[in-house]
Amino acid sequence: MRRVITYGTFDTLHHGHIRLLRRARELGDYLIVALSTDEFNASKGKSALFSYEERKADLEALRMVDLVIPERTWDQKVTDVRLYHADVFTMGDDWTGKFDFLKDQCEVTYFKRTPSISSTQIRNAMTMNIAAE
Ligand code: CTP
Repeated sequence: MRRVITYGTFDTLHHGHIRLLRRARELGDYLIVALSTDEFNASKGKSALFSYEERKADLEALRMVDLVIPERTWDQKVTDVRLYHADVFTMGDDWTGKFDFLKDQCEVTYFKRTPSISSTQIRNAMTMNIAAE
């Protein structure tokens, strides 16, 4: 069993997320998604449109996601990789190099981000539509 782990907020689940998760799952047999909690996002000055529980339910509905765990701090990655026996850590290439310190513990791979789509764009477009109504 080759286990893969990835991190993110996955708000307004979109095509870029699905592509990232599909490629992540193809790196192994079991995909763990560490999903940023609302409190963790608030500590970074970020806020998601959908709550942690809603985002978690969306991810759990995807066949390529095997387990969703909470991401509560920046520092938990080293512990998670050990605890969940992750063989591969992966993220989009907006994070290239940022998590190379995990290479002592597992493989670290960055995937090319899907262009022209993000949660921020979707949230902004929704806000503009609501304002225009
Ligand atoms: N991702 C991707 N392609 C995109 C958007 C996201 O591959 N177009 C990847 C990110 O690189 C990350 C994961 O999906 O590994 C979760 O990203 P997240 O930050 O939750 O999504 P964004 O759409 O980038 O959200 P935001 O605009 O709030 O930063």
